[in-house]
Amino acid sequence: AAPTRLEAENATVSQGAVESNHAGFSGTGFVNGDNVAGPYVEWTFDAPSAGTATLSFRYANGTSANRPSDISVNGTLVADDRAFAPTGAWSTWATATLSAPVVAGANTVRATAAATGGNPNWDYLDA
Ligand code: GCU
Ligand code: CA
Repeated sequence: AAPTRLEAENATVSQGAVESNHAGFSGTGFVNGDNVAGPYVEWTFDAPSAGTATLSFRYANGTSANRPSDISVNGTLVADDRAFAPTGAWSTWATATLSAPVVAGANTVRATAAATGGNPNWDYLDA
């Protein structure tokens, strides 16, 4: 089935803000998390059935350093220190994809900044 696009600006944000000052985002903005370890964005979506979902994160990282993020699905860590590599500019967006198990019905996907630099800027999750 076609993925559901889940805009970061509609997700639950801990330690961050919705902003729109870097072009190229989908929807009405993106989430800029604080530049510390621990901020997260958590998306909730319904899966029609249990199985393996493809999760595609659209992000920007305008620095020259990797921004690692811990990705959890339904509270279980599925990608430890997932690398979100530099995209060249804050207005240049890239997609990083991983697979993870989901349950039928409501699921949560949380991306938590794993290092002191913080998360990349988040545009959306396709799930
Ligand atoms: C800049 C940029 C922000 C970004 C931040 C960061 O301030 O404008 O969008 O989130 O760098 O380093 O995380
Ligand atoms: Ca930031």
